[in-house]
Amino acid sequence: MIDPGYVILFLGLSISLLLSRKHVVSLISSFRSKTAAVDEEKARRNSYGSDEPLKPPTPLMITPEQVSNFDDRPWRPFRWPYHQTMSIFKLDMNHWLDMDKYYVHYIEEKKRIIQKYGKENIDWLPDSEDATFELMQTVVDHLIVRYPLLFTVLKDGDFYEGKGKIIKNEITKEILDMTLPLKEHPLMYVTKLAKEDFYIVKKNPVDDLHYLVAAAVPFPGGSFGVDHKIGKTLDVIHSDVPYYKEKLKKSMERWFDRMKPNDPVERASWYISWDHKLKVNNVYQLPKYVPNLVADLESTDPREFNVRVERQTLRRLPRSNAIIFTNHPIFYSIEEMKDEPLVPSLIKKIIYEGPKDIIKYKNFEVFRDHIASYLDGLIKRQIDKGIIKEDTPLKTLPSYPFAHWAKTDFDFVNGWNNPSPAYDKSANYSEKAKKELVHQND
Ligand code: HEM
Repeated sequence: MIDPGYVILFLGLSISLLLSRKHVVSLISSFRSKTAAVDEEKARRNSYGSDEPLKPPTPLMITPEQVSNFDDRPWRPFRWPYHQTMSIFKLDMNHWLDMDKYYVHYIEEKKRIIQKYGKENIDWLPDSEDATFELMQTVVDHLIVRYPLLFTVLKDGDFYEGKGKIIKNEITKEILDMTLPLKEHPLMYVTKLAKEDFYIVKKNPVDDLHYLVAAAVPFPGGSFGVDHKIGKTLDVIHSDVPYYKEKLKKSMERWFDRMKPNDPVERASWYISWDHKLKVNNVYQLPKYVPNLVADLESTDPREFNVRVERQTLRRLPRSNAIIFTNHPIFYSIEEMKDEPLVPSLIKKIIYEGPKDIIKYKNFEVFRDHIASYLDGLIKRQIDKGIIKEDTPLKTLPSYPFAHWAKTDFDFVNGWNNPSPAYDKSANYSEKAKKELVHQND
């Protein structure tokens, strides 16, 4: 027979032991979770993505003939409410260097602009050698894998084994001899191959700041030139960008510090002009070149106005550790977007009621009164046709940053297809754009 006193004593001891064990466990686990949180935060801070190398892109079996009728993803980067934010998205690497029916026009314009304006649109500092070489190799490898019928390899050799390649561009029929030693600067080859503008940014270990060390930017769109940006820090480059210091600087710095090679992102910004010029759009013309700017725009039918989307990507190259920023302008006429719910309403709202410094930076005041009644007409038309209701709340589209029809109407080798009757897929403004080049700085 066990003495009940012992049972009570035993129970009491067990409970107190259990309690203290629980206490210790909870202390340990709280310590663990704190250190785990610290470790997680450290890991997060040190890396976005893992160290896994990027997967090569998926081949898109588009032929040179199909390119001439190929539309790229339809961007609609209109946000309301409109705040200055990084607004970046994970980039599917298949879309790093997109293709579309304006490829030839862009490559020809690049050639013309670089021949005529030189260092105003392309330049490199000595410190960029490793990065520009790596960029060239990365662009070549991407294009031949992604578009096997557009870029063929005539002679294959590893760039890092001192050999290099000979490539045929099947769209322009140009043969690019990139065997080593190179005959031209790597950025010149990149410029002949891709439609994008390229900015190469490196961190200086002395002051830990990011500098633009090389750039091939024939299509800045505004009135700045590479010669004003090369060798400058990202802070200086963005000094005129509205709300940069308050809204962008910190998150951008953090992003660049942590970004890994397998963590590419994309974003898009936009403005409006009444032309298709790639180097300097009419809306950013300086009075010294175009004193009659207002008369020029007032004589232009509002249906000729285009949204210029600046489609941008960011990635880090693994060898040189350089950051590659690409920018690619794409024009969408307001007319071709007129059947898309809320698009005219968003444009009207932003050009009149957006943040005032952004309105100024994008020169919206220059032309907005001229197109206001056209936009009002399009909004009324959407209400009359039942596309939107009078009281449909005005806010960023659920399909942002793309058109609402984009995901449902994708045809692999024929590209995206705008189903609006206002859009003609076979239309191509390349010839018209050439005739628009009339000013001294075009
Ligand atoms: C996440 C990264 C970045 C963000 C969020 C960002 C944001 C912006 C914004 C908001 C603008 C104003 C035009 C617009 O509305 O889009 C701008 C302009 C510009 N950005 Fe960036 N940017 C980034 C990275 C870069 C990088 C890496 C470069 C390379 C040098 C660069 C070069 C420029 C240039 C040259 C301009 C035009 C400045 C001018 O008008 O003088 N940006 N950027």
